[in-house]
Amino acid sequence: MVQLLTFGTVFVLFFFASPLQSKAAAPDVGKGEYLLIAAGCIGCHTTKENFKKGALMSGGRALNTPFSIFNSPNITPDPTHGIGRWTEANFIEALRNGKSPKGEHYLPVFPYTSFSQMTNEDMRHLWAYMKTVPAIQTQNKPHEALLIFRLRFSLGPWKMINFKARTFVPQKNKGAQWNRGAYLVNALSHCGECHTPRNLMGGLKDGFHLSGTKGGPDSDTVPNITPHTTGISDWSDDDLDTLFTLGMLPDGDFVGGGMAEVVESTDRMTQEDREAIMIYLKSTPAIASNTK
Ligand code: HEC
Ligand code: HEC
Repeated sequence: MVQLLTFGTVFVLFFFASPLQSKAAAPDVGKGEYLLIAAGCIGCHTTKENFKKGALMSGGRALNTPFSIFNSPNITPDPTHGIGRWTEANFIEALRNGKSPKGEHYLPVFPYTSFSQMTNEDMRHLWAYMKTVPAIQTQNKPHEALLIFRLRFSLGPWKMINFKARTFVPQKNKGAQWNRGAYLVNALSHCGECHTPRNLMGGLKDGFHLSGTKGGPDSDTVPNITPHTTGISDWSDDDLDTLFTLGMLPDGDFVGGGMAEVVESTDRMTQEDREAIMIYLKSTPAIASNTK
């Protein structure tokens, strides 16, 4: 009897669940984990100390920008200190439009300016994974209060000028690999957030995509990665792959600063994804460096 009942339940569940599933693919936790790694969410949301303890994404990492030092928030599923009470829609709104569940604007030090281009499907995979990580009760550290309030008020106009919420649209005249590369570079791995120079307001400068800047995070000089002679025109695929897997430059030095953290993402990507990034980088407009 019990067996019959179980069989009946499974059958009924299967019967009702299958047509629903064929309409919208169910979020996939494994895909979400891969996206989280590619997007570098862990690095920015974890302090070095907590990283060692395995308290991933518990926040408190200090991020140095030309405006101020900002502390990243706890994004674990803790209901009090993290985002445990959020819905999937809250999460998508944060990534797509840079807005909190209360309707406040986020600072662009959280690179929603790039993540905005992620597909809805990928945001849902990501959310499915985020819900599975251990909840950690670490209280958020405030940013420097006075400045932050001034900035949040001015963020509405800032976003109107410097930000447009949009989902990545593949270019029909380009191949699948190129489009995958464009998606990785511009939406997920947000390479331009460091490699593209900023205007006086801190928005990414039009027409200078990936051409390098003196004013990177932590006041780093970030090199030109377009196929220009002042960029990476003489880098072979092997050179790029060595950087993306080992963090080593053609002269044998290892990259430091923010790029060392990026390598922790690229070295965990699939070989196809690294190749897609290379194909895209080599086809972007060659722009002269403005870091000298
Ligand atoms: C460059 C560093 C950086 C990266 C990379 C980054 N974040 Fe953040 N994130 C921040 C900062 C700083 C804030 C706080 C912004 C503010 O106070 O306006 C933030 C805020 C958030 C919030 C809002 C939390 C809250 O309590 O309101 C969420 C959710 C979030 N990030 C998720 C992610 C996810 C998911 C990823 C990867 C796809 C990611 N972040 C990658 C720095 C980063
Ligand atoms: C957090 C900031 C940051 C992000 C994000 C970032 N980079 Fe970098 N990148 C740097 C810095 C800083 C250097 C210089 C590091 C050094 O030489 O020690 C660098 C160096 C490089 C170089 C070597 C160029 C040369 O001439 O030496 C390449 C290629 C590169 N990055 C590609 C990428 C790609 C592709 C992405 C996205 C997947 C990316 N970077 C994302 C900061 C960043």
